[in-house]
Amino acid sequence: MVAVTMSRVRPRDDAPWGRRGLLVIAAATALTAVLAGLARVGLGLSMGPAHAANHGPLFVLGGFGTVIALERAVALAHPAAMAAPALSAAAAVSMLGGLAVAPWLTLASSVALVAINVVIVRRQAAAFTWLMLLGSVVLALGTFAWARSAPVFTVMPAWMAFFVLTIVAERLELSRLAPTPTWASRFLVGLCVSFAVSALVRIISDSAVLWPFGLTMALIAGWQLQYDLARRTIRLAGLPRFTATGVLLGAVWLLVTGVLFTVSDVPPSGPRYDAALHGVFVGFVLSMVFAHAPIILPAVARVPLPYHPVLFVPLLLLHLGLVARVVGDVSADLPLRQVGSAANGVALAVFVLSTLVARSRGPVAG
Ligand code: HEM
Repeated sequence: MVAVTMSRVRPRDDAPWGRRGLLVIAAATALTAVLAGLARVGLGLSMGPAHAANHGPLFVLGGFGTVIALERAVALAHPAAMAAPALSAAAAVSMLGGLAVAPWLTLASSVALVAINVVIVRRQAAAFTWLMLLGSVVLALGTFAWARSAPVFTVMPAWMAFFVLTIVAERLELSRLAPTPTWASRFLVGLCVSFAVSALVRIISDSAVLWPFGLTMALIAGWQLQYDLARRTIRLAGLPRFTATGVLLGAVWLLVTGVLFTVSDVPPSGPRYDAALHGVFVGFVLSMVFAHAPIILPAVARVPLPYHPVLFVPLLLLHLGLVARVVGDVSADLPLRQVGSAANGVALAVFVLSTLVARSRGPVAG
């Protein structure tokens, strides 16, 4: 997310329309995925029920997979790199159309992402580029297993690890501006490798325990809360504070979910599964996406998104909704779980609206 800002800034860009098209496909896929998710919690709307079974892959691979592949391709700044997001978008469209080729297209996209990250590591071998490469390898292995019919709950830790490693790596890159003790950086790399391995073990044996996965996740979250640049930038005004708020709230959810995986068994469906999954996918991943949108959109699509305080509205709605959802999950209160889930979906819609408001109102000082 952030790396694009550190890559070469080109004065003129002749190809933003293709990228914008890919973002539109990712957004349409995410919208369908929200409706599908609501159908799974008993709130069937529009075409949601038809896609309910595919809710997870649509969000993870079709929606966010496309966005992350696009961002990495832009960071590499080579036309061939666009194959990764293009394949991912093609996979999303195939999934929506119910085509059997979809899993293999997602696999091809994740392999292309590995190739992008290999080139980036060769250009700049640093802890954060290696971690991104590791994340993409884990994604490719998880997606390979899924394409060969492994159930989603088996590959879910690998998909989670992909997001966590990619985001932590991008934050690590930024946190170079706030020097971290060398031992702490090494410790983080060790944690991330253990985390990746514990996610992959689950693919090999679906009876493998998940507490090492949870423990390493919680420690990575603790690291972020201690060393991330957000600890400093939260004291600033405007965009830095907004981004830092999303980052720190996301890290808190990662910590909570890590503890949940450590202390309790997470079954392959039901409320506890819901809480564990969405603590990461909504609390951590979506929070990070909202928090970095004013940086990602201009860099990836050449669409300026000036900071405006209205951006706090969807961020807070997202987190309050998730609190309600998780409380509903653990207390077996279905209506509360439904209200919280619906609030998560509404937060996404409000986020789109608030970006339009921010664009029309222009930047706010600070
Ligand atoms: C924004 C609103 C969302 C809603 C309403 C929603 C709803 C749900 C529900 C009800 C389930 C089934 C849980 C159970 O077994 O009881 C589920 C599973 C899942 N969700 Fe979500 N979700 C949302 C967001 C996301 C996001 C952002 C992601 C990923 C980036 C995601 C990924 C998944 C995955 C991977 C599964 C497992 C699917 C499976 O085992 O087949 N969800 N979701």
